[in-house]
Amino acid sequence: MVCAPCLLLLLPLLRFSAATLEPCEVDDENFRCVCNFTGPQPDWSSAFQCMTAVEVEIRGGGRNLEQFLKGASADPKQYADIVKALRLQRLTVGAVQVPAPLLVALLRALGYSRLKELKLEDLEVTGTMQPPPLEATGPPLSSLRLRNVSWATGGAWLAELQQWLKPGLKILSIAQAHSLAFSCAQLHSFSALHTLDLSDNPGLGERGLIAALCPHKFPALRDLALRNAGMQTPNGVCAAMAAAGVQPHSLDLSHNSLSAAAPGAPRCDWPSALSSLNLSFAGLEQVPKGLPGKLSVLDLSCNRLNKAPRADELPVVSNLILDRNPYLDPEASKQQDQNSGVVAACAHSALTVGISGTLALLRGAGDFA
Ligand SMILES: *[C@@H]1O[C@H](CO)[C@@H](O)[C@H](O)[C@H]1NC(C)=O
Ligand SMILES: *[C@@H]1O[C@H](CO)[C@@H](O)[C@H](O)[C@H]1NC(C)=O
Ligand SMILES: *[C@@H]1O[C@H](CO)[C@@H](O)[C@H](O)[C@H]1NC(C)=O
Repeated sequence: MVCAPCLLLLLPLLRFSAATLEPCEVDDENFRCVCNFTGPQPDWSSAFQCMTAVEVEIRGGGRNLEQFLKGASADPKQYADIVKALRLQRLTVGAVQVPAPLLVALLRALGYSRLKELKLEDLEVTGTMQPPPLEATGPPLSSLRLRNVSWATGGAWLAELQQWLKPGLKILSIAQAHSLAFSCAQLHSFSALHTLDLSDNPGLGERGLIAALCPHKFPALRDLALRNAGMQTPNGVCAAMAAAGVQPHSLDLSHNSLSAAAPGAPRCDWPSALSSLNLSFAGLEQVPKGLPGKLSVLDLSCNRLNKAPRADELPVVSNLILDRNPYLDPEASKQQDQNSGVVAACAHSALTVGISGTLALLRGAGDFA
């Protein structure tokens, strides 16, 4: 792949050209280096500028990286010392088609690096990843974020990718996924993972969540984010979590069209550690029944509550957030959209996320740390 360490593999293939427009730019502190190879006939060698950067971002304009496969079979020990000397800690690769063997070569090379955060966006991975040799060889990632990455191997992808990472991953985020129906039997436990973010998968739903939350593979989970993930009732999510044996402390269900559970629907035992629940932007006209009995934070902002919830409808909660509901915001309610009944300020943000999740993600990309 076209990251700094991989370029080491590719040295013999590169020809320096006198391109006038440099696709890569590095800041004055040699900290952040950004390459955009979208233009015609990209000069890949420009990426050498990124060799000393801590943060590297590379976009490939949708190109197929097959041409670099030849270099991918080199023995990574040859360049281990150079990779060890890199300052690289955060790498983003976007908009390329990558043959799986090349991705494996990248991960092997990065095994010698200090890479902490890897982000893959708008990627198509073709072919299957071979299993690694016995010792864990990949990078020591603490955070892996994927958005719109498709894998030829379908639901097996996470297990295949996991084999190439050293244990210790703490944050996993998978947005706009093509398959979240994981092959659970092949998956090892993510023993250090505390944050799982499956937001921006509007097709997931509660059934999909049951398939994605492989039982007992996320024993250290504390934060589960399911923003805009097609969830329908808090109780359905509760049931999926119970089935998977996950015990998060915080659960984000904002930006789902949640309905209050039907009367008589089975109650569910919420994780005993759950202390923060986000039900904002959920189109709620009343507080759903069957919520946990006690919480530290309950966010019900930006819903359609037309009157103040009664104490007996609410859990015992220390920090209750109710702002931007029609009953509290008569001014804003006047401009309220007649069809949706949503307070104007909220409708605006809901729209931002709904239509342009990518934009929101790009903004979020700034705060890596
Ligand atoms: C990358 O370059 C192309 C043109 O070569 C441009 O259209 C595009 O906006 C650039 N992307 C970024 C993220 O700078
Ligand atoms: C997802 O990635 C593919 C390339 O793999 C790209 O063609 C497509 O436009 C991306 N979709 C979105 C919504 O960005
Ligand atoms: C709840 O979610 C909304 C939208 O995703 C976010 O703006 C808000 O900060 C969250 N609330 C809390 C308490 O984290």
